Amino acid sequence: MKIKLQTNSQYTTNDIFFPIQQDTQLTAHLGKVALWCGFGEKDLQDFKAEAKEIQTVFSARQSGLKVHLIGLGKTLSAPDMTAIARSVAFKLKSKLAEKSISVELTHLLTPTTIDFAGAFVNGLLLSQYNIGLYKTDKPRIATPLSSELEIHVHFAGFYSENGEQIAVNATTSSQLKATLRTAEATATTQMRIFDLINAPANYKNPTTLADWAKESGESYGYKVTAWGKAEIEKNNLHALLAVNKGSENAPAFLILEYKPRQKPKKLPKIGLVGKGVTFDTGGISIKGSTNIHFMKSDMGGAAAVLGTMELCAKLQLPVHLIGIVPATENMVDGKSIRPGDVIGSFAGKTIEVIDTDAEGRLILADGLAYLKKHFDPKVIIDLATLTGSCIQTLGYAASAMFTNNDILAQKLEKIGNDTGERVWRFPLWDCYADDLKSDVADVKNYSGKSVAGAISAAKFLEIFTDEHPAWVHLDIAGVAFSDGEFSSFRSATGYGIKLVTTFLEQTDFSDF
Ligand code: BES
Ligand code: ZN
Ligand code: ZN
Repeated sequence: MKIKLQTNSQYTTNDIFFPIQQDTQLTAHLGKVALWCGFGEKDLQDFKAEAKEIQTVFSARQSGLKVHLIGLGKTLSAPDMTAIARSVAFKLKSKLAEKSISVELTHLLTPTTIDFAGAFVNGLLLSQYNIGLYKTDKPRIATPLSSELEIHVHFAGFYSENGEQIAVNATTSSQLKATLRTAEATATTQMRIFDLINAPANYKNPTTLADWAKESGESYGYKVTAWGKAEIEKNNLHALLAVNKGSENAPAFLILEYKPRQKPKKLPKIGLVGKGVTFDTGGISIKGSTNIHFMKSDMGGAAAVLGTMELCAKLQLPVHLIGIVPATENMVDGKSIRPGDVIGSFAGKTIEVIDTDAEGRLILADGLAYLKKHFDPKVIIDLATLTGSCIQTLGYAASAMFTNNDILAQKLEKIGNDTGERVWRFPLWDCYADDLKSDVADVKNYSGKSVAGAISAAKFLEIFTDEHPAWVHLDIAGVAFSDGEFSSFRSATGYGIKLVTTFLEQTDFSDF
């Protein structure tokens, strides 16, 4: 993939994308395009610039040259730019003359919306993702990284108040280059993560996640420690081992550590934990068969952590990042844990397993407690496809956020809206913890009541954070693997990578 910034409007490709906003300037913009294509102004008047509208016109000036007018709708935001670019480029994919396109942004960007260029390019790149990993008739070239798409981004300057064009200065040019670099780095990692989440469980087990992490760590310069069963036993991760008991495939416990090559004076230590259940049958409390195949995506939290580690390393963000991934399958077998069994945990607490399908919170309990004890980070964020209850409440629109830290909640809410990876805060009131009291053990993993499932799961996790003052739990059950226009069925979204990376990039951690 190649992305070139050109500070002029001289196009050298045969497909030009012209994104246009539905604003008071619409007629003026269309007039410019018409003039440039050699048409009369009226020739383009059908185009209304509704979001995702496409009108392809052939330029009268040069044979074979196509201008794709892209509607952006009325209000613009970075996530809209990404969604629109991805959608229209996905639809136009088979119609492009070659694998090079030009995008004209001169009429669109203002000094405060330079990032829209990156957002748009991120969407264009994501449109190239090919979900048909295992098709034999159209074999996919290696990884999404080999996509040949070349994008020429044209930006000739801002317009002044009296409509004059101001040439691009060095600051603007370097801002544009940075946003385009980030867009590409983000898209390539997002697509690698799509592959990992979309992979079926006969192609993906805890060892696969470990191998993915090792390869990524070597490529982008971060440390990966991957424990197998023996080390997990030695380190007393009893809850992870309990969930793994019914599985033929060994568990894995990944400890990832990233520090930038150039160390600034202060390097805040931030911890991430991701649920890595590579297939969730429910165990002995077995799930119904409808849609159980979706449970290949029950490692969406682990994927978000792996993707964030990789992207932070690529971008060399000034943070010391620890990523913890407890990984296992949750299978049905003669060796599986049974409902009612009492298991141990890394934290030393005993847990009565009322429902073996509430396995995510068990392995996260060990992940969180291990992270807190051995690294004690300033901020802890865990991501997990944890409860059906979260989907019942929020659908596919946002993750459920739980935290006692108001500053973190506000920051994540804002960044969620800015990136389109939205969060919605839920309460962590203590009254919800009463239902987790066990008669026989320190705590039980399920209240036995079919109410407030996402909240009681969060209250369970809270016990294992050892009263950490800056812990956030994100239940991403609805948003990690969703319906969309790019697949006929649910597929990976890569949720969390943009949210957490942007949070790490934009937060001054001296407040914590
Ligand atoms: N992995 C599931 C949650 C899930 C459901 C994620 C649907 C994505 C889509 C989790 O392990 C689970 O089964 N949770 C149970 C917990 C219950 C038994 C307390 C649930 O939410 O039903
Ligand atoms: Zn489950
Ligand atoms: Zn699960």
